[in-house]
Amino acid sequence: MRQLLDEAAKGGYGVGAFNVNNMEQIQAIMEAARETKSPVIVQASRGARSYSQDRFLYHLMLAATELYPEIPTVLHLDHGNSVDTCKSAIAMGFTSVMMDGSLMPDGKTPSTFEYNVKTTREVVEMSHAKGTTVEGEIGCLGGIEDGHGAGLDGLSHLTDPEQAVEFVRQTGVDALDIAIGTSHGAYKFTKKPTGETLKMDRLIEIHKRLPRTHLVMHGSSSVPKDLQDIINQYGGKLKPTWGVPIEEIQLGIKNGVRKINVDTDNRLAITGAIRKVFAEKPEEFDPRSYLKPARDAMKKVVALRMTQFGQAGHAGDYAPTPLAEMAKRYEGNGIPVVSSE
Ligand code: 13P
Repeated sequence: MRQLLDEAAKGGYGVGAFNVNNMEQIQAIMEAARETKSPVIVQASRGARSYSQDRFLYHLMLAATELYPEIPTVLHLDHGNSVDTCKSAIAMGFTSVMMDGSLMPDGKTPSTFEYNVKTTREVVEMSHAKGTTVEGEIGCLGGIEDGHGAGLDGLSHLTDPEQAVEFVRQTGVDALDIAIGTSHGAYKFTKKPTGETLKMDRLIEIHKRLPRTHLVMHGSSSVPKDLQDIINQYGGKLKPTWGVPIEEIQLGIKNGVRKINVDTDNRLAITGAIRKVFAEKPEEFDPRSYLKPARDAMKKVVALRMTQFGQAGHAGDYAPTPLAEMAKRYEGNGIPVVSSE
């Protein structure tokens, strides 16, 4: 992932990181990547690993790299809760891990700065020795996803810019997730966010202090009204809600954001498409009759985000560097650190 993010920094674009649990989601992402010629980050949470028993995920990802050899593809662990979780992901073949030491291993209780530094540093040492990239988190995101999260609103534990600088210095992380008011899930904002609820000024300040660190925006689904409407039109019960506007993400990309996490928008697209088939063709019972439209709906959202984030057209810019080569570069501290400016 380090290589993808360095390249994105050079080109001034962002790379979407899309969550997966099953075959259809992986297919949707890879098809969108091929259509838009995008490098891509596929990410799996602990919940996804347990849902897929790890081995299904592993072989599906092997199939993805076999069938889409022209796409630089990262398999990233989303919100690792402990050193052991990261270790098992690396052993399985993940090429990037997130050590979320902003929370204790229960994935719920906010931790201390010292705990976060200690665990993240440990993961960085272990990962870089194998060439694997590490993302850390400082401050706490809002909401809960796949059982992970403090369940707070997005503003309770904003990232302190001073602490962010110290955290990067002491851990050596490749990428940093910062809390600027976003939350996981569909219910992020009760109206279109303003500078009071989505703190882009804080992100810009952190980037100014850490111009060489790749910033990550979690909780960055836009929760589009049209996807909400399809669900509700076919019997769903979503309450009115707002996500992160694309133009704010694009402002982030101009200010050091290189990885953008999107899960909820794809969940909405899949659910809307399935509800539509169930409502319009109640006689259908072949799972393919609703999984195909679901996969197509997700692919459409992913392809659109790839274009909006600017990664489209960049798949052929470089050849992926093998992990062993990355390990050598980390060892010699020769990682080409690219300024985002
Ligand atoms: P969304 O719920 O906004 O899609 O965020 C997903 C995410 O940040 C995964 O880590």
